[in-house]
Amino acid sequence: MRSLLFVPGDSDRKIAKALAAGADALILDLEDSVTADRKAAAREMTRDFIASVKPRERRPRLYVRINSLATEDWSADLDGVVPAGPDGIMLPKPRSGEDVHRLSLALGHGEERAGLVQGATRIAAIATELPVCLLNMGSFVDASTRLEALTWGAEDLSAEVGSAATREAGGAFTSPYRLARDLCLFTAVAAGAQPIDTVFIDFRDQDGLRAEAAAAARDGFTGKLAIHPDQVEIINAAFTPSQREIERARGIVAMFAASPEAGVISLNGQMYDRPHLTRAKRLLERAGVAGRD
Ligand code: COA
Ligand code: MG
Repeated sequence: MRSLLFVPGDSDRKIAKALAAGADALILDLEDSVTADRKAAAREMTRDFIASVKPRERRPRLYVRINSLATEDWSADLDGVVPAGPDGIMLPKPRSGEDVHRLSLALGHGEERAGLVQGATRIAAIATELPVCLLNMGSFVDASTRLEALTWGAEDLSAEVGSAATREAGGAFTSPYRLARDLCLFTAVAAGAQPIDTVFIDFRDQDGLRAEAAAAARDGFTGKLAIHPDQVEIINAAFTPSQREIERARGIVAMFAASPEAGVISLNGQMYDRPHLTRAKRLLERAGVAGRD
């Protein structure tokens, strides 16, 4: 999943536009973009949308962001949407991996009631919205085999902390939010989950988005959240390995294949050892996912 586009779950207009955006995943939102009096309608609209899109052969992955486990809404959210068989549930504001485990158990019950395959519904967690969660990041490793992706957020975290801003004047994240981002990256990789970079809320600033997505891809994130359809193409491009990168990775794989005994190889004045091979293989895997073999 290179691009994951948030779509408010109670908006007819945005739901109607969502498929055309070209995102690898849609996240139908039942949480912050939906007011309390619209939650019930949003569950129904989201369920109907998933049921209608699911049978299509070519479609994005369909995620639903539920309300946090600290609310009274989350189990009604699951009851409302799980029967339609979403590919995954996005969990906001977990306190630790224990919340992922709790969600996983609830999904198991929901799947059983709906006659779905056990374990089919995956989980993406937003791991940095509560300060306490940053102290518990290790608990996401082995939290659940359903955990497919881990992402992070600066907005809710800054509201909790009381920071006046999350970014420097030039746009770079300030130190506390860089820590949240970096911990998300390491934790996701340690948990065997996809690291997904956070939203870029200034959706008219395409250059800013392009730079932030490129930096995320450079550092090891493999996707980024989007809030507006115009952001999708830029994000997809940033996380699609270029032809040059693919050729370079193929060259490294071929070199090691030609010398299976060698631990280290030199090419054009550069040293290549096993970590380079691992990275090259991973890039080729992602290139396959991105449909550019
Ligand atoms: N998904 C699908 N369609 C969207 C969309 C989205 N996230 N954001 C905008 N669109 C649609 C609009 O409805 C509009 O189509 P319309 O004229 O047929 O209604 C078109 O794209 C152009 O939108 P635009 O006028 O540029 O933006 P806007 O002012 O309508 O909306 C936001 C701006 C930020 C309110 C909107 O992008 C949005 O709701 N984003 C998601 C917010 C969210 O889910 N937040 C929670 C996670 S942080
Ligand atoms: Mg939020």
